[in-house]
Amino acid sequence: MKIKSACMAIFSPTDSTRKIVERIGGYLSPAPTEMNLTLPASSRAELHFLANDLVIFGVPVYGGRVPETARERFKILRGHRTPAVIVVTYGNRAYDDALLELKTVVEEQGFQVIAAAAFVTEHNIVRQIAAGRPDENDLKAIDRFGAAVARKVAEGAPSAWHEIGVPGNKEYRPYQPIPMHPKTGSGCNHCGICSRECPAGAIPADDPRQTDASRCISCMRCTRVCPAGARKLPWLLQWGPRGRLCRSAGRDGRRRCLFRALLSRRCTARRIARRIHVWK
Ligand SMILES: Cc1cc2nc3c(=O)[nH]c(=O)nc-3n(C[C@H](O)[C@H](O)[C@H](O)COP(=O)(O)O)c2cc1C
Ligand code: SF4
Ligand code: SF4
Repeated sequence: MKIKSACMAIFSPTDSTRKIVERIGGYLSPAPTEMNLTLPASSRAELHFLANDLVIFGVPVYGGRVPETARERFKILRGHRTPAVIVVTYGNRAYDDALLELKTVVEEQGFQVIAAAAFVTEHNIVRQIAAGRPDENDLKAIDRFGAAVARKVAEGAPSAWHEIGVPGNKEYRPYQPIPMHPKTGSGCNHCGICSRECPAGAIPADDPRQTDASRCISCMRCTRVCPAGARKLPWLLQWGPRGRLCRSAGRDGRRRCLFRALLSRRCTARRIARRIHVWK
């Protein structure tokens, strides 16, 4: 099949998903355009794709699910039996039902999922978990996936593509929001970048020292974009999630994490099993 146009629809507050999707998109011809839906917009027009277009959807996993903000933003994209590739990234705890949820969401919007992948990245809340991921081997797997997608599209015909199965339970895991929100420290120079860059509009423009906890999705974007390094999670609050995440991300994670963290503030949960899953 010859693709007329390709597009990457991305929700990626701390950019790991965006980089992976862009790498996959690099294998497609024509080169895909990027539609980054991470930031809010006052209005966005509905976009329709045809059967000879292709869309790659990319989201991070939040609590084993597709982030609600991404689900909402993707609603403007309408397919008409349009082939789609779905990609989730996760911080090596688990992606639970996120891939199945993303598949269901895009299929309900008229797309036909032809390939799916889940890739491990550094955990953007506890960055010691899966630190350095994607590494060289992950990048090779991402490249193999990109090349396989390009081959499948070039050599196949929509009528020959059967429905692909992805892991996950139809009764999605209930989403439990992370009860932690970054705070602004004394280094803040009131530049306003965090307010403009917050995907959830949770930082008031006139007082960036505040965070509206009812809006904040704990995506960590503000901690990355602040040029003064003034936005941080309260250190003490990190201990609960750190222990829990390490426990589920690595063998014997908690003991090692706490032991090492107390000695050197370094968590050895990075020595976790390599987990990359690809369906195509
Ligand atoms: C609110 C929140 C919830 C998360 N939940 C999970 C999870 O359930 N499982 C997991 O392995 N990683 C989880 N992560 C880690 C992210 O999925 C991972 O770091 C992702 O690659 C971030 O993507 P981004 O850089 O595109 O924003 C979570 C991160 C955040 C901010
Ligand atoms: S980006 Fe950092 S320095 Fe700028 S307003 Fe936000 S917290 Fe303050
Ligand atoms: S305030 Fe919350 S939602 Fe906004 S960028 Fe920071 S962590 Fe993300």
